[in-house]
This record gives sequence, C-alpha cells and structure tokens, in this order.
Amino acid sequence: MTEEKSVNFPLIGTPAPEFVATTTQGEIHFPQDYKGKWIILFSHPADFTPVCTTEFMTFASMHEEFRGLNTELVGLSIDSIYSHLGWLNAIKNYSWNGIEHPEIEFPVIADIKMDVANKYGMIQGESDTHAVRAVFFIDPNGVIKTILYYPASLGRNFHEIKRVLIGLQKSEKEGVALPANWEPGKDVIVPPPGSCGDIKDRLEMAKGEKYEMKDWFLTFKKDD
Ligand code: BEZ
Repeated sequence: MTEEKSVNFPLIGTPAPEFVATTTQGEIHFPQDYKGKWIILFSHPADFTPVCTTEFMTFASMHEEFRGLNTELVGLSIDSIYSHLGWLNAIKNYSWNGIEHPEIEFPVIADIKMDVANKYGMIQGESDTHAVRAVFFIDPNGVIKTILYYPASLGRNFHEIKRVLIGLQKSEKEGVALPANWEPGKDVIVPPPGSCGDIKDRLEMAKGEKYEMKDWFLTFKKDD
C-alpha cells in the first residue's frame, strides 16, 4: 500500500514561491529576475531519459517563439548541474521530428536537494526522487495563472502549452474569457453581467455586429 504523504501545492492566483537556485545559465533569483515577463517554469523527471529528451528538443525549438510572447522558460529536475550539462550537450547531437541539433539556451535548475520541487508540489505519488512533469504559467507580476501536471510516461502537448499562454495573455489584456477549445482568432466570451444595469447595457451592446448573445449570461464577441 502506498504511504500517505503531504505535498505543498502552490495555488492559481497566488504569488509564485520564491527561491534562489543554481542553473545551467548561472544563479537565478526566482521570480524576481523575471519581473515584467511571463515565465513557464517546468519540471521533468530525469536527465538522459527518452520522453524528457523529446520534450527538451521541443522546448528548444519553440524558445524563440516563447520569447516573442514575452515569456522565458525555466526547466528543473532533481539532477546535478554536471548531469544537466552532459545531457544538454548530448541533445545537441540529435535530430527528431524536424528539430535538428537543438541548443538548450534557457536555464535548467539543478534541484538536487529538492528544495524547489518541494515548494512547487513537483514530487508526487509516482516517485520520491523524481519530479512529475509540471508546468507553471506565471504572469509578469509573479502570480501563478495556470498549473498543469503530467505523469512521467506522458510527454507534454506543446500546442496546448502555447495555447494556454496566449489565452492567459489575451484574457488578462482584454478582460475576456475563452470558451472550450478556444484557439487564437476564434470568438471570445464577454464575462457575464453582474447587475440589472449591466444586463440592460449588455442587451444594447449585443445588438452590435461583433456580438452574438445566446442568453443574458452567454455573449460571444468576434476576435479583434
Ligand atoms: C522519460 O522521460 O522517458 C521517463 C522519465 C522517467 C520515467 C519514465 C520515463
């Protein structure tokens, strides 16, 4: 029988736990060093493992795209800095899925004492020594906006990671909500009215060409 254990889980809408860590790009003070930028903080179970290698190749191939979205990547596993450097150097030799000889230029935390992993709920029921595949989306004020966790056996969906990031940025910038299976360019949702006055205003607004009101609480708006 699995022993019960308690894990700290950071919560959506709360400040990202702070830490200082050694990475493949030097020491970082998190999240202070990233003020004004979005951060994707992610963990992987272990260096020199197959699924993690495909994920790192994919993160590397999308690094510039994420930077274009004012977003920095920070990786983590419970491995030493020497292990990280050896693995990242090995990854440069590979080509897979149209990705050729990727250079990993984002920092990867050597969390050998599990300090960061424990703060972020990255050690769960699968292993006491390996992190799960966690993804934290942190906004430019250091607040956690979305958390995804995957098991070791399942590689992450990078289309979804990018979709979540773009969706969070859009929702924050435009004050809209996003429907099921939303993709950039598709209709958005105007948040429901909160008072009688608002409902009247909403009925007026919904007469505009850009809006489609299904009911008083469900109004779609064409993307700008
Ligand atoms: C992998 O990345 O392939 C992996 C890592 C840890 C456990 C299982 C698979």
